[in-house]
This record gives sequence, structure tokens and C-alpha cells, in this order.
Amino acid sequence: MCGIVGYVGSRPVTPILLDGLGKLEYRGYDSAGVAVWNGDRIEVEKAKGRLSVLRENTCGGVHPVGCIGIGHTRWATHGKPSDINSHPQTSGTGRTAVVHNGIIENYYELRQYLISQGVQFVSDTDTEVVAQLFEYYYNGDLLATATRVVGVLEGSYALGILNADHPDTMVALRRDAPLLVGVGEGENFIASDVAAILKYTRDVYYIDDKEIALVRKQGVEVYDQYGRKVDKELRHVDWDVQAAEKGGYEHFFLKEIMEQPEAVRATISPRIKNGRVELEIPLSDEDIRKFDKIYIAACGSAYYVGVAAGYLLEELLRVPTTVQLASEFRYQNPIVDEKTLVIIISQSGETADSRAALREAKSRGATTLAVVNVVGSSIAREADMSLYTWAGPEISVATTKAYSTQLAALYLLAIKMADARRSITDERYAELVRAVEALPTLIERALGIKEQVQQLAAKWFSAEHVFFIGRNTDYAVTLEGALKLKELSYTMSEAYAGGELKHGPISLIEDGTPVMAVMTGARLFDKTLSNVKEVLARGASIAAIVGESARDISTEADCILRVPDCEPLFSASLSVIPLQFLAYYIASLKGCDIDKPRNLAKSVTVE
Ligand code: M6R
Repeated sequence: MCGIVGYVGSRPVTPILLDGLGKLEYRGYDSAGVAVWNGDRIEVEKAKGRLSVLRENTCGGVHPVGCIGIGHTRWATHGKPSDINSHPQTSGTGRTAVVHNGIIENYYELRQYLISQGVQFVSDTDTEVVAQLFEYYYNGDLLATATRVVGVLEGSYALGILNADHPDTMVALRRDAPLLVGVGEGENFIASDVAAILKYTRDVYYIDDKEIALVRKQGVEVYDQYGRKVDKELRHVDWDVQAAEKGGYEHFFLKEIMEQPEAVRATISPRIKNGRVELEIPLSDEDIRKFDKIYIAACGSAYYVGVAAGYLLEELLRVPTTVQLASEFRYQNPIVDEKTLVIIISQSGETADSRAALREAKSRGATTLAVVNVVGSSIAREADMSLYTWAGPEISVATTKAYSTQLAALYLLAIKMADARRSITDERYAELVRAVEALPTLIERALGIKEQVQQLAAKWFSAEHVFFIGRNTDYAVTLEGALKLKELSYTMSEAYAGGELKHGPISLIEDGTPVMAVMTGARLFDKTLSNVKEVLARGASIAAIVGESARDISTEADCILRVPDCEPLFSASLSVIPLQFLAYYIASLKGCDIDKPRNLAKSVTVE
């Protein structure tokens, strides 16, 4: 998705903008640009393609020369990727420049209106409408103009604006798209993602919906949509800068796979004290006992975490639990009320559909709990309570450690809730706590499977499609395995619940078709093995992920991947590891862009 960075201070701005945009590259983009006040006018440099093109065009940041500017990486929505459609977009006079994340939903009406007023457009973007509108409304007063613009724009936006009459000020405003102001000494920043400015400052103001910030070298003022001053709390971000660097690994994806033991430890350890799960969320035992229904809503991998958590919650709590895609939940008129707990899972905390699902749930009176990684993100701030996953910055577009820490956070939540409802015995409680505490070490051991998976990848990398099968929690993890393979290696891959094969998909199995069977659960081992035999009889090439103590199945599977035994309800945390490696090595062999797969964005902030 698009990225914004802006700077005002005493240093040359263009290198700072290029550096910040570099930190946002991971979000996915197709063009990049900067606008800088050069002492005489707003100078724009922008180009389709990678940031390297912009670096070349600006001679590595030597020009434009100035100390205030805004930069952008664009992921096309309105108008194909091109130099003209890249941001910054400017007004006809060039006296207003705008960078924008999001979608202006009423751009067409506004554009038609402005055309009727004699304004001429040069791009196909919705963003140019904002630049032209700002100039059209401009009355010499930046704040008054900005409040007027906020009053008419519909849709989602984070905007950074420069105006030639005020060459000391950046205007930043937002609605439904992330934006923050970084506060330095004699210099200030704007960014859509803290990673862009972490090198310069860790003190930030999170801008709320429809707020307007006027950012100058000397200070920052924030106003509401009516122009009334707002007092903001300065927040300190303690993410480690190193965590956002590759640290010797060829790819962030691989680095983040290897970081999983530590990330999961950080999620779990501080929350287990003297054998008891203690969560920092304001959810009393009485609150927990009141729920007669649980919904989980999320997108992509976070949704697949939800699928695993759904099995777990129903098993431990005996409370009906529905797992739904956030994009469906928001439009399905869900049966949700004051007795419902709605759990929203999101790494970024900015996913548009998940955020909409959260609002939908809140509007129906449900208690909302966000399992979220990015502190201060929109979902974290809007939910009734947040359980942070503390995975640190995840840079690879495809998730690994955020997925694993989301699982871990939900295990803790399920144990706590089951205890509060007395749906498990004290012995089972103690057993589950021990099992969750053991996970970081077991994940570390599971990473040892890397080379074996690499060999499997060498056999499977030219396959046109790969099937994944499993049952219950093992099925949940196959969904994630298939998504990882699709995302990273562009291999057609599908996950099926073992029992579903005979209902259609088995017709696709032919000689040599690769099938990955996940069968770590002892209870359903034989059931999945029957499915394995069915596809084997039709010529499939089988690899199976099993627990280390599972019986030998070498007559059925060509490749047996053993992961450490663990509590069956938590097995996704271990069986996902070989699946992550499989996607990684197949993508490597196919020469894919592993950290930034085509067409994908790290956080999907538009619907
Ligand atoms: O930031 P979120 O967790 O809300 O993002 C949800 C999905 O967009 C995300 O998990 C996506 O599916 C990843 N590319 C998976 O690797």
C-alpha cells in the first residue's frame, strides 16, 4: 500500500525523504515521488517504478534542495502506475502539492464540479482532486482551508500537503488511514508508518480521524475538523531499529521465520506469573462469564489464526464461536449483541475491512477485543481493549512472526477465559499453561527442519499446483500454508479439510500432484491418513507433517516432516514452520521477489 513521509527542519530534506520511503518499500508500491520547497517554488520529482529510479532522478537525493518536503510511495488504485499518476499530485498552479494514502470515494463528483469551474486535470488519480480542491478553497489560511477540505472529502485518506504561501508548514490530515507526526529537536516529521522515521525520533503523535496537524520546524499544532485546538498525548515508540533491518539474512521473510521463538516468548513470558495467565486487558471473570457467543473477524493470515483459535475456544470454553472474514462480517448483518465478544485480529491494526468489522460489532453493543501488533494503530485505539502481540516490526509483506504471536496471544486468552468460566479443571489449566510456556523452545526446535524442507522444495518447485489437507487445527494451518505458497511463489495452492476431498477436489489429483498432509493431531491421524491413501491411489506425491512420536507412514508419504510433539490445540504453532520454509524455498528457486511479492501490500488500508 502507499506510504507517506514528510520532513521540516534544518537538514537537507530529500535524502531524509528517500531514506524514509526506503523504509516503507516493504509495504508494496509501483511508483514514488517527492515535493520540496526549494526556496522559490515547490519542486516535484516523481517516477513510475522502484525507488531506485527516483534515487537516480534526484542524483541520490542531491536535488530538489530544501528543508521541507513530502514523499510518497504509490500503490495504484485510481489510474495505472505512471509518472503522471505518481504522487505528489499538484494543483494546476503547482502551488499546492499533495501525497495521499487511501481512496477518495466522491472524487468523481468533486472532479466534475471542479471541471465545471474551469479547473483542468492532468492525471487519472483521485489525489489530484484533493490538490485542486485545496487550491480552489484556499483563502490564505491553511487551517481554514484544510477544515473545508475535510468537510467535503468522503472515503479514506491520510494526506500530506505543502502550500507555496506557507513554506514553513506541512499540513497532515487523516480519516480511516494511518498517519502520525514524529517530534524531533528543531525538526518534525509526518509518516504513515513509524518505521519511516524511527531512525530520527521515537516520540509521536497519532493523528485521529478528521484531525488536522500543522507541522513546522518549531512545533506541531493539532486541530479537530472544526478548527478547534486538540491536546494530543506524545507517545513513545520502543520498537528496535535493528528489528527493521535484515541483520545478515538475505530476506526479511527468512529472518522473521527465525525470530519466531523470541517473538512468541515476548508474547507469552510476561503474561504468565506463578503459573497463572495474567492479561493486561480490562476483562473481568464476570465479563467473561456473560458472553454467550464469540465472533472472530479478520483478513488473510490473521483470519487463518482465527480459524485455529475458533477450534481452541469452542473446545476449551464450550461457547459457540464463529470465525468470519472481516470483509464478509461487515456486510452480513451479524447476530451480535451485548453478550457477544468480538475478537478482531490484525498485525497492522489498519486493515480497512477489519476496522469496519470492529465498528460494526461496536455499533451492535458487542465487547470488542483486538489482537494486534502495531501499538497505537487504529484498531488498537478503537477496540474496547487490545491484547498486543509484541512481535516487533514485521517487514516482509507475507507474515510469519505476527501469525505465530497472534496464535500465542489467543492461546493465553482462551486459557484465561476457560478458567474464568470454569469450563476446564485446575489440572487442565496447569497443563495448558505449561504447554503454552513450552512453545518458544519447541518452535526453536521445529526450525531445525529447514534443510529437510529445502530438499522437498527442490522436488516440488516446478509444480503447477500444490494441495494441502488436514483436519481441525491441522486444517487451519493448511490454509496458512497454502496462502504462504501462493503469496511468495505464485504457485496455485489450495487447502482442503481432509473430509472434503471426496466432495470434489479429488478430481484434480493426477500422477505426481504434490499433496502436503498436515496430521499432527493424534485424534484424527487415521482419518487424515485415509485421505492420504485416497490421493496416493490416484498418483499424488505426498509429504506429511507429523508429530515426532507419530507412527511411521513411509509407505504412504515420500517425505515425512516431524515437528516436536505438543498440546494438540497449540499444534499450529509448530506445523506452520515447515510450511513457511516450503514457501520460502520454492519462491527462492523460482526467483520470486520474496519480501515484496507482486501485487501485494503489507497492510490493506483500503476496502
Ligand atoms: O495487518 P493484518 O493482520 O490485518 O493483515 C491481514 C492480511 O492482509 C495479512 O495477513 C495478509 O494475508 C498477509 N499478506 C499474509 O501473509
